[in-house]
Amino acid sequence: MSRLICPAPGIAGEVTLPGDKSISHRYAMLSAVASGRSVLENYATGEDCASTLACLRSLGVRWEREGDRVTIEGRGPDGLQPPSAPLDAGNSGTTMRMLSGILAGQPFASVLQGDASLSKRPMSRIIAPLRQMGARIDGRDGQFPPLSIRGGGLRAVRYELPVASAQVKSCVLLAGLFAPGETVVVEPVETRDHTEIALRRLGAALSAEGGTIAVRGPASLSGQGTRIPSDISSAVFFLAAALLLPGSDLRIRGVGLNPTRAAVLQVLRRMGARIEVRPEGQGAGELEGTLRVRGGLPLEGGEIAGATTAAVIDEIPMLAVLGATSKRGLRIRDGRELRVKETDRIEAVVTNLRRMGADVSEFPDGMAIRGGCRLRGAQLDSFGDHRVAMAFAVAALAADSSSQLRGAGAAAVSFPEFFSTLESVSA
Ligand code: S3P
Repeated sequence: MSRLICPAPGIAGEVTLPGDKSISHRYAMLSAVASGRSVLENYATGEDCASTLACLRSLGVRWEREGDRVTIEGRGPDGLQPPSAPLDAGNSGTTMRMLSGILAGQPFASVLQGDASLSKRPMSRIIAPLRQMGARIDGRDGQFPPLSIRGGGLRAVRYELPVASAQVKSCVLLAGLFAPGETVVVEPVETRDHTEIALRRLGAALSAEGGTIAVRGPASLSGQGTRIPSDISSAVFFLAAALLLPGSDLRIRGVGLNPTRAAVLQVLRRMGARIEVRPEGQGAGELEGTLRVRGGLPLEGGEIAGATTAAVIDEIPMLAVLGATSKRGLRIRDGRELRVKETDRIEAVVTNLRRMGADVSEFPDGMAIRGGCRLRGAQLDSFGDHRVAMAFAVAALAADSSSQLRGAGAAAVSFPEFFSTLESVSA
């Protein structure tokens, strides 16, 4: 789907965005192996979280969905059934990597496959720890989907993550639920801790201190009612649109503000953005609140590197666009992981920014974007990646003439209502 996007003067009003994708995946999977019923409110509406639910159904889990409420009948720790066909994770790396941890704990064989993009993403990062735990797991050429897994009989291990990845951390912790003893994961830098929060809430014995997380197995979890906060990674597209378009004044309500996810707010502030944050308590053990942002002030720019890059990895495409229009420009380093996301996000961002007239140098782990660019209307491409689609839809709103965005439909992977929500607040 190609979409024509015309420049807009501003966005204004108030929006509430769909539930957090990362948190939704986790509660769906954990509720499936918990005992009792779980009701998940504000479950993420994107295709990725639907892929997780579809895989769970193929494992014998009964669930019902009414709008954004999902009710899951937990099957308990030993209740999943062998699937009769390969499980399809679609475009979703989180589904594949986290569900592999659960499947490694099951005494049956399963195959997990994905779409063309997911089939090119590295899986050795979960194959290695799951093999250490005793699962028989293999991938195409030893490292790519589809994955075949024969689980059961796991042993607890101590695993030091070679890459900063919440998906890999979560995969090992989920496998640890089925391994007698204490499974320990050590992370090199802090990554999102939604799995740890959810595991504690559902009754697992989990400790976390200074980057060392330990879970005790075998664990028995209890289903819970959970209201999922809105996705801060989706909110960032609206924050950026408001910052780019001078006539803007936008409020975003109910946004998840978990400190391991909200680093993007500090990065935006360091770049010179004025964003008001009003925390409004906790839902599901996750801080949430309202954001208010006004447009008009040009951003300064700056540098994103080291642990900060890992903390804002999903927001880099949007931050890069803001960098091009900032006064001093933006340098992004230590983001090699961007090359193995839904597409090579360094290449995709550099290509689109250059088409819009920006001056960008590409590095193996990032890019340097010269500031002061007046973005030009252009032929843009999502490269099949939801975050690239939304980042450049926003860039196109701030351009000097209209743009065509090829593959705009990719936004539905995390945020199917993205374009209609944007229209609802467009001046
Ligand atoms: C996610 C972790 C991150 C992130 C992805 C969602 C998660 O991936 O980029 O969008 O829900 O745990 P990595 O674990 O590969 O860093």
